[in-house]
Amino acid sequence: MNDTDTSSSTGPATALVLLHGFPLDHRMWDDLTGSLATDLQVLAPDLPGLGGAAVPDGEPSVDRSADEVAALVEAAGHERVVVAGLSMGGYVALALAERHPGLVAGLALVDTKSTADEEAARANRERVADEVESSGSVEAVLGMVASLLSDESVRERPDLPSIVTGWIREQQPSGIAWSQRAMATRSDRSDVLADFDGPLVVVVGEDDTITPLAAAQHMASTAPDAELVTVPGAGHLSALEAPGPVAAALDRLLRRAAEATPQSPETP
Ligand code: MLT
Repeated sequence: MNDTDTSSSTGPATALVLLHGFPLDHRMWDDLTGSLATDLQVLAPDLPGLGGAAVPDGEPSVDRSADEVAALVEAAGHERVVVAGLSMGGYVALALAERHPGLVAGLALVDTKSTADEEAARANRERVADEVESSGSVEAVLGMVASLLSDESVRERPDLPSIVTGWIREQQPSGIAWSQRAMATRSDRSDVLADFDGPLVVVVGEDDTITPLAAAQHMASTAPDAELVTVPGAGHLSALEAPGPVAAALDRLLRRAAEATPQSPETP
């Protein structure tokens, strides 16, 4: 058990925590938070090395990111939260569910997967990390933008590619390298889903080619209490491309988490 483990907590969730994808930051959630019906506090931190968050010392790992999120949530006074993570944010959310199980009252895994990288993907991450570090530039990851958004989203929101490109250009190369290496070392966490006893929603953009429907189906079929939501016309950044349907899925998850919380006996 580590310092921040709250595995004995059973109370209601008092916040919704949104964990962004790579190589982005909390701004990818801005449109979605405006569509949420919840009156819970929403925390959308920048994950280590990205946005305004410092690049950590020490070995890159999504476990380290999860521990930083847990510390932040607890420092904000929350013992139980519902956690939504998109892609890399999903890897961190799964690490959080494993390392801080009492903190997580419900889980949304959006355009992500529970499995680890294949060897070729790991080698590619290391190559990209080396390249951004040696060049001191984020150029090597700008090519990702085309695969993050669906054709339909770009037709309907022609401004999206330049918005996402602008966000990536503002990241620190050292933070991009740290994140790539952190994702490369993550383990398969499908067993975390199998053991997760809270409500889960798995959300996937219909046209997500990075973590496609099959990865979402695998996660939904692994967990005991899962809803699978496919977002029509959206790609890998479904929460940005189609914030309304993703917010609706999160609202349903928050209701399920509230219903699953044992009520304290009424005082006479
Ligand atoms: C993301 O959107 O966070 C990335 O595609 C995750 C990854 O590189 O595996």
